[in-house]
Amino acid sequence: MTIQTIATTPFAGQRPGTSGLRKKVTEFQQPGYLENFVEAIFLTLGALGNVQGRTLVLGGDGRYFNRDAIQTILRMAAAHGVGRVLVGRGGILSTPAVSCVIRKRAALGGIVLSASHNPGGPDGDFGIKYNIDNGGPAPEKITDAIYEHTKTLASYRISDAGPVDLDRIGSIRIEDMEVEVIDAVSDYAELMAGLFDFDAIRALFQRGFTMRFDGMHAVSGPYAKAIIEGMLGAPAGTVVNAEPLEDFGGHHPDPNPVNAADLIALMDGPDAPDFGAASDGDGDRNMIVGRKLAVSPSDSLAIIAANATAAPGYRDGIKGIARSMPTSQAADRVAAALGVSCFETPTGWKYFGNLLDAGLATLCGEESYGTGSMHIREKDGVWAVLFWLNLIAATGKSVNEIVQAHWARFGRNYYSRHDYEAVDAGAANAMMDDLRGKLPSLAGQTLGEGENNYRVQLADDFTYTDPVDNSVSTRQGVRIVMTDGSRIVLRLSGTGTEGATVRLYLERYEADPARHDLDTQQALAPLIAIAEQVSGLKARTGREQPSVIT
Ligand code: G6P
Ligand code: ZN
Repeated sequence: MTIQTIATTPFAGQRPGTSGLRKKVTEFQQPGYLENFVEAIFLTLGALGNVQGRTLVLGGDGRYFNRDAIQTILRMAAAHGVGRVLVGRGGILSTPAVSCVIRKRAALGGIVLSASHNPGGPDGDFGIKYNIDNGGPAPEKITDAIYEHTKTLASYRISDAGPVDLDRIGSIRIEDMEVEVIDAVSDYAELMAGLFDFDAIRALFQRGFTMRFDGMHAVSGPYAKAIIEGMLGAPAGTVVNAEPLEDFGGHHPDPNPVNAADLIALMDGPDAPDFGAASDGDGDRNMIVGRKLAVSPSDSLAIIAANATAAPGYRDGIKGIARSMPTSQAADRVAAALGVSCFETPTGWKYFGNLLDAGLATLCGEESYGTGSMHIREKDGVWAVLFWLNLIAATGKSVNEIVQAHWARFGRNYYSRHDYEAVDAGAANAMMDDLRGKLPSLAGQTLGEGENNYRVQLADDFTYTDPVDNSVSTRQGVRIVMTDGSRIVLRLSGTGTEGATVRLYLERYEADPARHDLDTQQALAPLIAIAEQVSGLKARTGREQPSVIT
């Protein structure tokens, strides 16, 4: 075994996006592509302090290229003097589990291999993300430094050691570095058992409560099986598609009503169980489903917040709620009722890190099917599902009853997201630029037809100043806020891998319980029309319809 220095040249475009570097597998397979990015991570860590002898956590969602990437990263970690790497058995660790293990074992950080909900397989996507010692995604100053290094690299360092057996629990060495293959589930399961009332949930299943958890052939399957079927005693078969597959069985592992169509069909049909749930590729997203009701992620955050004390881990109440800017304002109403702060951050879980570390927020959520809390520094799919199970067990109410009671108390924020995927990047950027140019003239204008008109209260491109470190993030999305609190938000996705993806977010508040069962798209139709009138989205992108509506 020796450490080699291999000459390389920079690859363009290795700037991490909303959630790390995500590219096609074929791009990652170019000689040196992964190595360059990993070298840039180690150079950044080296400049920040001492990597020597420290512990890193490493794992991924099991998608195609996961095992190859892990072998490469292990050999590079050894060449950079890392003391120990904890790697999940089979190369598997969900994103929340990486965060949990970093915190529990006081590691320097971790590397997560995933492109989250993006499709996998040889023609699919791959991704790599660095998490810091609080267990959360690296903040911008670190991802920017990584990117700067990728632009100037001339070589990378790697051991020529042979591959590690990732399927056997135990320790071996590469150079002076220890590689410890750990059980992927146990640390995480122990954390969950400390937060939720497992006895009450076990009793719920004993009383005949039925559930389907769809693992979507992605990484949350092993966690859900071990916890929901194993520890909580749900009948075998409650967790379906539980085996992680390299191509996720050819499906798109994104828990929303469009991609988890089987689950939605089941929950809409005569054989619906009491509760349905799904998680995404790397296990950090969740979808909560009742009978004929997919709970909007924004509502799920608000409902969890309003009922937080039902779960033992949150018995003493919450300190604050944080949501991303495009997420609906349902949580704001709960925060106001509880008398706690509500923070509005840019899209991306990394922006919650400082708020959680400073104890300013206890619960966080995003419209993109992400919910989580101070227990780790990533969003957490299985955690959200367990929270709902705990809530159902504690209240004796169904998902539908819980949601309806919430709307009756707080009002309903009708909410939808329209995605225009893989559109021409030039056209999308030009549309956003023109829209930004119009913003100063929008405030005070009345938009829309007849009685469906709205007066614009505020129109801006969202800027966030982090209250903890005062860092400023600009151009985080255009928002057009109406005088009644209804909103239109437009931004470009930071996680797409092809062209540009335009996201249009729509929200309308309805206080009157007599109008809480409207069709969401109909309820939002006037705002959809205004969005088109203001942005020319369809004309500019040449699309008649959104690619996905959630
Ligand atoms: C990932 C991130 C989330 C983000 C979502 C959508 O899941 O972890 O924080 O909300 O992607 O991001 P995008 O930039 O594509 O809208
Ligand atoms: Zn994910």
